[in-house]
Amino acid sequence: MSNIESILTETRLFQPNEKVKQTVAIDEDTLAAMRAKAEQDNVGFWSDLAKEKLSWTKPFTVGLDESEAPFFKWFTDGELNVSYNCIDRHLATKSDKNAIIFEGDQGGVETYTYKELHDQVCRFANTLTAQGVEKGDRVVIYMPMIPQAVFAMQACARIGAIHSVVFGGFSAEALRDRIEDAGAKMVITANASLRGGKTIPLKDAVDEALEKGCDHVKKVIVYRRTDLDVPMQEGRDMDWMEAEAGMSNYHDPVPVNAEHPLFLLYTSGSTGKPKGVQHSSGGYLLNAHLTNEWMFDLKDDDVFWCTADVGWITGHSYVAYGPLSVGATTVIFEGVPTYPDAGRFWQVCEDHNVTVFYTAPTAIRALMKFGADLPNKYDLSKLRLLGTVGEPINPEAWMWYHDVIGRGECPIIDTWWQTETGAHMIAPFPVTPLKPGSCTQPLPGIDAAILDEEGNELGRGEGGLLVIKKPWPSMIRNVWGQPERYKSTYFPLENVPYYVVGDSAYQDEDGYFWILGRVDDVLNVSGHRLGTMEIESALVAHEKVAEAAVVGRPHDVKGEAVAAFVVLNVDIPKGAERDALIQELRNWVAKEIGPIAKPDDIRFGTNLPKTRSGKIMRRLLRTIAKGEEITQDTSTLEDPSILEQFQK
Ligand code: WT7
Repeated sequence: MSNIESILTETRLFQPNEKVKQTVAIDEDTLAAMRAKAEQDNVGFWSDLAKEKLSWTKPFTVGLDESEAPFFKWFTDGELNVSYNCIDRHLATKSDKNAIIFEGDQGGVETYTYKELHDQVCRFANTLTAQGVEKGDRVVIYMPMIPQAVFAMQACARIGAIHSVVFGGFSAEALRDRIEDAGAKMVITANASLRGGKTIPLKDAVDEALEKGCDHVKKVIVYRRTDLDVPMQEGRDMDWMEAEAGMSNYHDPVPVNAEHPLFLLYTSGSTGKPKGVQHSSGGYLLNAHLTNEWMFDLKDDDVFWCTADVGWITGHSYVAYGPLSVGATTVIFEGVPTYPDAGRFWQVCEDHNVTVFYTAPTAIRALMKFGADLPNKYDLSKLRLLGTVGEPINPEAWMWYHDVIGRGECPIIDTWWQTETGAHMIAPFPVTPLKPGSCTQPLPGIDAAILDEEGNELGRGEGGLLVIKKPWPSMIRNVWGQPERYKSTYFPLENVPYYVVGDSAYQDEDGYFWILGRVDDVLNVSGHRLGTMEIESALVAHEKVAEAAVVGRPHDVKGEAVAAFVVLNVDIPKGAERDALIQELRNWVAKEIGPIAKPDDIRFGTNLPKTRSGKIMRRLLRTIAKGEEITQDTSTLEDPSILEQFQK
């Protein structure tokens, strides 16, 4: 049964148990009161929370400024510093509490108290300033999943520099696009990263990215994670430790306007190159803070582990900023779930007494395959809440997570959100009754609805476009340097300034939301967003490729796999030569974008299935990719014989 079918037939309901009800900070009554307040006065609801939860150097008087809608602004006349909010304000009461517990790929553990984090971040903030980075400058961070990545992010926030973290798995080409688009002045990297016992060079990719253009990059700071020797370019490259030597442990955080961009994060869309999603300082931090309290109920003695890399939005809101803003202890893990064996996640949970664990359905499905014996070998009794994010979770994986990892006692917090939303949007509180596969209900203050193609609001039970009707504090502020693209991508509806998500969904009779998937040409591979067009452009850039069409096909671990249909400008090779070309094209895509975008499946044909007007019939390609029989009408096809070629 496909995920969607199993979701559509799911009827189980799980009530929170007594222990959860009695221990969580937000009980049913508090939640109901919050919803009522948000309903009555949305802007007042968020404004009161912004005053209560964040420290402002200059208090704001304006809640929401809609004068330039859909460019919404929140708390616009207020000033704050995000790093101060994540670190300094906890020092009076928590200076000796662990802020970060780090476990390396090879198992080495390091801890940083809030005081130690403060000193590290201050030293690096002073280093950035000494190297000429100023408020508003863009800094690209291309790092392994190590504490230094968070120090670098926090140091940027401390001086008002705008960081853009690029996932370490992206290629030199993809890195160059992002460095150029952001106009970065500095790149912060490491000589290499360590994953699953393998050394993956990072500095090499930076050198390659900076070979052409990128004259705006003046400095590269290199952290030595391994003993791999890397060439350093005189005058441009600096060793992290050397650059930091002699820097003071004190740095006065620079107050910025609430709307000052905290970071850019590039993400794929259905058209063009990845977009630089621009987030604010005040509004972003508010929702990152609140959702760590609301969804994960983080308290003083919790140890929170979000497995996401800081290269994704999840690693921003639930590793680098949110947990620190609430003063929690957060785990940073460098390795992979299956090294040295598939019990690693559970070993990390046991060793560090993890109480709240947050991961992706793809990881759960991958680990589920190893059976319950592995997790059962570890003491997971400290776990009290389990989160999931990245794609709809199939009820089977949900049940395994709930029963095997959570002993049937931990609520499963299925959080629906996006890079653009900054923080959770539709998700249960720990006391919310749960249905496996549903992300349940919008958070208080979030006004979600489902529309038909004409923009009419649909009733319960009807599938359509998911939209958010009211602005919220952590929403995307702009597409970096492309305001028109911001408007046309996210606010395409005439007459109404609703944020259009790009997912389809429906609401059941209880008002619970069920996400069905993307409505655009965006794939979700292992919880990572990939634009089909990006992969097609990468393929077409290969000298032997004339045309390419990319679609997704269901995959039992990754959720979706990449299937590419390719037309060559040479004869289609046979046998071993064909296999070699497939391998070459897969590696080519890895080089152009990154290994995550490698097609799982490449098929050759003499043309793509097109209508007489030249439109590629992707629906047909999806059917072929799934290995299903074609039942669609193919009479509009220019050349129906093409289909046979692709059917392998
Ligand atoms: C897309 C956003 C949010 C951080 C990770 C991905 C899908 C995300 C869920 C969920 C169903 C989900 C959506 C969304 N998605 N979480 N809990 N249930 N679908 O961020 O790369 O910006 O991707 O991921 O399709 O639009 P992203």
